[in-house]
Amino acid sequence: MDLELKGKRAFVAGSSDGIGRAIATGLAAEGCAVMLCARTQEKLAALAEELREHGGRVEYVSTDLDRPEDISAAVDAMKKEFGGCDILVSNNGGPNPGEFRSMTEEQWLAGYNRTLMSTVRLIRGMLDDMIAQQFGRIINVTSISVKQPVQRLLLSNTFRAGVTGMAKTLSDEISRHGITVNNVAPGYIRTGRQTQLFTDRAEKAGITVEDVRAQVTANVPMGRIGMPEEIAHLAGFLASARASYITGTTIPVDGGLNRGLM
Ligand SMILES: NC(=O)c1ccc[n+]([C@@H]2O[C@H](COP(=O)([O-])OP(=O)(O)OC[C@H]3O[C@@H](n4cnc5c(N)ncnc54)[C@H](OP(=O)(O)O)[C@@H]3O)[C@@H](O)[C@H]2O)c1
Repeated sequence: MDLELKGKRAFVAGSSDGIGRAIATGLAAEGCAVMLCARTQEKLAALAEELREHGGRVEYVSTDLDRPEDISAAVDAMKKEFGGCDILVSNNGGPNPGEFRSMTEEQWLAGYNRTLMSTVRLIRGMLDDMIAQQFGRIINVTSISVKQPVQRLLLSNTFRAGVTGMAKTLSDEISRHGITVNNVAPGYIRTGRQTQLFTDRAEKAGITVEDVRAQVTANVPMGRIGMPEEIAHLAGFLASARASYITGTTIPVDGGLNRGLM
């Protein structure tokens, strides 16, 4: 299947590691020009060099997605370097874990800023150009928590629902301009973030990280944790010409973890 991604310009947020890195790698391998974005410059520089081996252009912008002014600068860098954006992958570090009674006002606002507003700001920065060119692919990395809340991930459970509502509404407003808006909802995927969350759960329960991993795995119908590349494959398809009639959806990649019918 030809995904027709060659030469498309992709901005991948949170892409020095984990799921974002796998998505950026997949898009570069398909011939996209890619703008990497995360906080740690050294990791971005090393990845950019690695991905240039696929033959396409790869640039990076060091950005703290928690800061609106950094997002504006990253959007400007995308316009300056690539002249616009065809594919926007909105991804970021996850919000902090915790439970309702211990969550402070400050932590609520930080979760809102990180998970909902970074997505809003990235899309707002790229959207006018996508409308002008009558083409765009917007892919938000959310979580299986939008289908079924995850224990101790109150902020994720709350604000990813917000991203989902925003994306659905936006898809209704802009799909006539050749722009699709979709969410990819990972289940348990092997990344640094996952290790942090398993460590948090293990500490709270007084068990080992390996115990947590075994408990989680036992609840996944496929009997294993997913790999970041398995998210990237779906993101690559949604970014492609082949996904031209898919918009406003949330697609889980979770090995069957979500038992809901829809
Ligand atoms: N892994 C899972 O099982 C899973 C499941 C469901 C949902 N998710 C969600 O998917 C997203 C990606 O998760 P992941 O597992 O790939 O995480 P990860 O391995 O921790 O990678 C996060 C990436 O985002 C960057 N990042 C973090 N905070 C940032 C900030 N403030 N500004 C800019 N870049 C930032 C990191 O680089 P720097 O640190 O250098 O900035 C890194 O490149 C998260 O929102 C996570 O909650 C993950």
